[in-house]
Amino acid sequence: MIKLSNKARAMKPSPTLAVMSKAKAYIAKGIDVINFGVGEPDFNTPEYIKDAGIKAIKDNFTRYTPTPGIVPLREAICKKFKDDNGLDYEPSQILVSPGAKASIVFILMAICDAGDQVIVPSPYWVSYPDQVDIAGGRTLLLETTEEDNFKIDPNELKKLIADNPNVKALMLNNPNNPTGAIYSKDELIKIGDICLENNILIIADEIYEKLVYDGAIHYAIAALKPEFKDITVIINGVSKAYAMTGWRLGYSAGPKYIIDAASSLQGHITSNTNSMTQKATVAALLQDDGSIEKMRQEFELRKDFMYAELNKIDHVSTTAPQGAFYIMVNVDYYLKNNIKSIKNDVELCSFLLEEAKIAIVPGSAFGNDKLVRFSYANSMDNLREGVKRFAQGLKSLL
Ligand SMILES: Cc1ncc(COP(=O)(O)O)c(C=O)c1O
Repeated sequence: MIKLSNKARAMKPSPTLAVMSKAKAYIAKGIDVINFGVGEPDFNTPEYIKDAGIKAIKDNFTRYTPTPGIVPLREAICKKFKDDNGLDYEPSQILVSPGAKASIVFILMAICDAGDQVIVPSPYWVSYPDQVDIAGGRTLLLETTEEDNFKIDPNELKKLIADNPNVKALMLNNPNNPTGAIYSKDELIKIGDICLENNILIIADEIYEKLVYDGAIHYAIAALKPEFKDITVIINGVSKAYAMTGWRLGYSAGPKYIIDAASSLQGHITSNTNSMTQKATVAALLQDDGSIEKMRQEFELRKDFMYAELNKIDHVSTTAPQGAFYIMVNVDYYLKNNIKSIKNDVELCSFLLEEAKIAIVPGSAFGNDKLVRFSYANSMDNLREGVKRFAQGLKSLL
C-alpha cells in the first residue's frame, strides 16, 4: 500500500458532512427525506443558455481554448463588471476556471507560501479552510456573532491582524453562505481600509451577488475605493444565479500579476474550462429572457416563507438572511434542554434525519456548533412539509 500524502490524509470526511451523506443514501433508497442541505438551485438552466451550449457542440467548438478563457467570454465578463459594479477590468485581468471553487484555489495557490495565513470569518462556507490548506496556507478563523448578524467586527479584524504578522489574505464572502448576510457600503469600507493599511489581499467571493432580497443592494468592495481594486480579487461564477452548477464555470478578476500567476498554475492543472460552457456563459451574461430574475423572485418568496415559519418555532432564533439561499437557525436551547441526551449539533441533525426525516446541515460544518443550516433551494411544498417536521421533531425533544 502506498502512503497517502499528508495533504490527502488531512481531507478526511467530517462527521458533520457524514450526516448529509446518510441523508443522500436514504433519498437514493426512496425514503421520504426532505433535503434542506442542497447547495444548488433546483431550477433548470434557462433554455437560451442551454441552446448556446448545444450550438457550440454542433459547431464543433470542442477543442482546447486559451487557458484563461476565450476573449469574447472575458470581454462579456468585463462588461458585467462595468454594468453591475462600475468596475473597469481588461480581459487580461480575468481568469475563467472550471467553477468558482477552482478559481479560489488557484488564487490562493498564487499567493500562499507555507505559513502564510488567510483569515476566514466564521461561520464560513465549508470549503474555505480546506482550500487554504490545499494551497499551502494556514486558516485563521475570525469569529462573528449572531448579534452582529454574523458580519465581521472591524475591531476584531484589526486585533487579529495585529496578533498575527503573517496574514496574507481575507476571504470575504458577500452575500454570505451560510448566513445570508450582506455587507453595507460603510461596513465594506471599514474592512477595506484595514486590509489596505496592512497590505492584505481581499478575496471577495461574490458568487451570490445576484441573489439578493428585500431591495438589499450588493456592493463590490473593489468598486468602493480605487485603492481597494488594487488589493482585491473578485471571485464570481454562473453556478448559482444562472442555475449552471453542472456546467462548471467560475471566474476571478483582479490585479494582472495575480491573475497571470493563477493562470499559469491553472494551465498545468486543468487548462481551460470546457469550451461549450464558455460559449453558454457568453449567452448567459449577454442575453436575458427574464428567467434569472424569475428564479431570484422565487427564492425571495421561499426566503420569506422560511424566515416567517422558522420564527414561529419556540426557543430558536434566526437572523434574517438578505441574500444567497440559506438560513441559519440557532438551536442552542434544544442542545442544552432535551430528553434524548443529544449533546451537539451533529447528534441533533442525526436525530432529525432519523426521526423527522429531514436533512439539515450541522453548524459545526461552518464553524459554529450552535446553529444548523437550511437551504431553501427546494419546492414550496417541500419547504412547508419540512419546516413542519422540523418543528415537530424539536417539540418531541422537550
Ligand atoms: C460561497 C461559495 N463560493 C463558491 C462556491 C463554488 O461554486 P462553483 O459551483 O462555481 O464551484 C460555492 C458553492 O457552493 C459557494 O457557496
